[in-house]
Amino acid sequence: MCPIGGAAIDAVGDPLPAETTASCEHCDAVFLGAVGGPKWSDPTAAVRPEQGLLRLRALLGVYANLRPVKVINELIPASPLKAAKLAGVDLVVVRELTGGIYFGEKTHDETSASDLCTYHSHEIERIVRVAARLAAKRRGKLCSVDKANVLETSRLWRRVTDRIMSSEFPSIELETQLVDAAAMHLLSRPAEFDVIVTENMFGDILTDEASMLAGSLGMLPSASLGESSRGLYEPIHGSAPDIAGKGIANPCGAIASAAMLLRHSLGLHDDANAVDNAITRAIVAGNRTADIAAQGDRVLSTDAMTDCIIGELVQDP
Ligand SMILES: NC(=O)c1ccc[n+]([C@@H]2O[C@H](COP(=O)([O-])OP(=O)(O)OC[C@H]3O[C@@H](n4cnc5c(N)ncnc54)[C@H](O)[C@@H]3O)[C@@H](O)[C@H]2O)c1
Repeated sequence: MCPIGGAAIDAVGDPLPAETTASCEHCDAVFLGAVGGPKWSDPTAAVRPEQGLLRLRALLGVYANLRPVKVINELIPASPLKAAKLAGVDLVVVRELTGGIYFGEKTHDETSASDLCTYHSHEIERIVRVAARLAAKRRGKLCSVDKANVLETSRLWRRVTDRIMSSEFPSIELETQLVDAAAMHLLSRPAEFDVIVTENMFGDILTDEASMLAGSLGMLPSASLGESSRGLYEPIHGSAPDIAGKGIANPCGAIASAAMLLRHSLGLHDDANAVDNAITRAIVAGNRTADIAAQGDRVLSTDAMTDCIIGELVQDP
């Protein structure tokens, strides 16, 4: 276990200490708890928890962030969307993770500020290939999301995507959508999406939106991958400071992230499926944390929900 983020700032003044870097570099996989919180939220602070996470992603070279969104029928009542829209929703967002505006040069003075957004062709090529290969194993549909009507980086994104898809993946059905339209279509026709590929910030925002299809931000896992099998695994949610310490956080996204770790970094596909199935069975059996509970449901604590999932896993591995 290694410190990162606020805990690391408190301990040594660095959100990604050298000992954490060294350990992560020598691992097959990194399982991450969220960083950040009100204690370290001073916008004028030179050192911030999120810097640790961005540096770790860059260090590991994990440029492809896979965020699956699958609706479990029993959780449809937990979503604010109508049931008819949610049936059959099973999509993956492939978010570019180490480029774009989050990594660009930042400047500010008293009255102005700037965040530079840059993409290079090779960064787009490699993420589009990851997404297209994934689509080939699924329903064969790829939707590339950009803002090509306004942004130069998006116009490059679209040109490169068109070139890679037509030359290397001609059998994959490619659709392009502007990010504002995609945000709407995620709510109006979510079941039509198979794989979505998009740049860093758009993917960050769209997946928080998409989490509501699955019932809660607490349900969604993620895997961040690069050229090797080494990966970084974390639920898509943050540190949830508003519920911290209350014992009510949904553990499903974190546990499903562990399943992705078993699958992608360790090649333990049966074990990964067993963990995913245990989560589903626990939910089908009626176990709920507060964020996914409908009226009349029995509400469990984080520990009790975790015990239910472990119980399912042990009973039927
Ligand atoms: N990868 C990361 O480490 C990461 C990602 C996002 C945000 N953050 C950080 O987390 C802090 C809080 O950010 P935020 O509030 O915008 O986002 P958040 O994801 O922590 O929380 C958003 C909302 O979702 C709820 N929520 C989140 N996880 C949940 C869970 N497992 N079960 C039930 N409800 C859950 C929270 O209670 C909150 O109402 C900030 O400091 C932010 O920088 C870190």
